[in-house]
Amino acid sequence: MAQGKVDALLGIVFGDEGKGKVVDYFTPQYDVVARFAGGPNAGHTIIFEGKKFVLRSIPSGIFDEGKVNIIGNGCVVAPDLFMAEAKELEAAGYNITDRLLVSRRAHLILPTHRLLDRAYEAAKGKDKVGTTGKGIGPTYSDKAARIGLRIGDLEEKDFLARYERLKARHLQILSDLNFTDFSLEEDERNWLAGAEYLRKFQLCDTEVEINRRLLEGQNVLAEGAQGTLLDIDHGTYPFVSSSSTTVGGVCTGLGVAPTTINRVFGIFKAYSTRVGAGPFPVELFDETGDKLREIGHEYGAVTGRNRRCGWVDLVALKYTIMVNGITDLVLMKSDVLDTFETIKVCVAYEKEGRRTETMPYDTEGWQAVYEEISGWQTPLTEIRNEEDFPEAFKAYIAYLEEKLSTRISIVSVSPDREATIVRS
Ligand code: GDP
Ligand code: IMO
Ligand code: MG
Repeated sequence: MAQGKVDALLGIVFGDEGKGKVVDYFTPQYDVVARFAGGPNAGHTIIFEGKKFVLRSIPSGIFDEGKVNIIGNGCVVAPDLFMAEAKELEAAGYNITDRLLVSRRAHLILPTHRLLDRAYEAAKGKDKVGTTGKGIGPTYSDKAARIGLRIGDLEEKDFLARYERLKARHLQILSDLNFTDFSLEEDERNWLAGAEYLRKFQLCDTEVEINRRLLEGQNVLAEGAQGTLLDIDHGTYPFVSSSSTTVGGVCTGLGVAPTTINRVFGIFKAYSTRVGAGPFPVELFDETGDKLREIGHEYGAVTGRNRRCGWVDLVALKYTIMVNGITDLVLMKSDVLDTFETIKVCVAYEKEGRRTETMPYDTEGWQAVYEEISGWQTPLTEIRNEEDFPEAFKAYIAYLEEKLSTRISIVSVSPDREATIVRS
């Protein structure tokens, strides 16, 4: 039997591109769906049959009862939040314990990691990153510093002693930062209950499990979290998350070889958004930005914060397509532009008389240069065949494909699972 393959679906902007929706739509075509990076900083929305779920740590393939879902070694897990998320799915009638494998090598987010996240942000003052406050940065820092706790440690007899040691270290740092206005008790109680609950799941060497399944001919869908511009290496550092969100992260975060990777889907919206601080050359501060936010419901799925909005950015997309080797593009939320007479597209950046069409090292302070094209001014939401797209929308798709030298294989025109159009 031919060996199975790994396809990846990656956010290629600043996150919230619609990954959850498309992973859920793709799941019937795969045997395994696996998260390889991030943790509860993610918020992946899935809507079907009038129901809505926002997943944070659990992969978006979980609604297909026949499929295995994996939280890979590149992820970080907060047991208390995991428990809340899993119980919500159980309450909705999904039996997930037998179908969800968790890597022993994934790192644990402690309650004190969340406090450190807040303390570091407070210490940065006006330079703060605007993190989700879920302890992501401090957890990956401890991983890199080789002092972190892992899922596999839950199985050790001295787990509590290890927990106390790391906690004591964190409390010392918090005290050094004069960050003392907190109470840990309730959080800690929930966390320990979550840790106990997690033990019900299959904690295993997921890299061995995935490779065994690939050898058997099974196919894997790697579900990205965040987006390439939030990647620790290729994002707008230091305004990034702390994990590898690119295709490279699929290999390290699941333990699969580059040669197993087949298609790499790059997902983006017909306009741009960003949550949190950091450079965003296409950001609109006017009523057009407000209109995009309102029609697109651009409020964070995790934090409820306003998402910053702007036009689509081809400078950024060309860069993120390059670093990921994107084979197919997935265009989301075009319906949000239905009422716009004209649509702008950022084709270059300018700063102090300099112009660039390639992503600069320092993304701060650049102004976007736009081209303007006609809008379609027709509702797209009910359309299910690409032949029925209005001509101006077809022209927009062709324009993007030409500029990005990459095919747009899938178009989404509403949040619902059904509103996903695969182009022939
Ligand atoms: P993710 O983090 O990449 O999974 O994306 P989020 O779930 O954070 O944000 C995407 C939002 O857009 C969610 O509220 C989705 O329900 C919604 N959405 C997804 N696709 C479409 C679409 O084609 N049109 C519209 N209007 N909304 C969409
Ligand atoms: P999904 O998977 C959008 C942003 C935060 C902040 C920065 C660092 O839903 O697309 P962190 O808490 O990770 O240390 O925050 O990254 N961020 C996201 N923005 N979507 C996400 O995930 C994000 N995960 C983190 O807003 O600017
Ligand atoms: Mg999201």
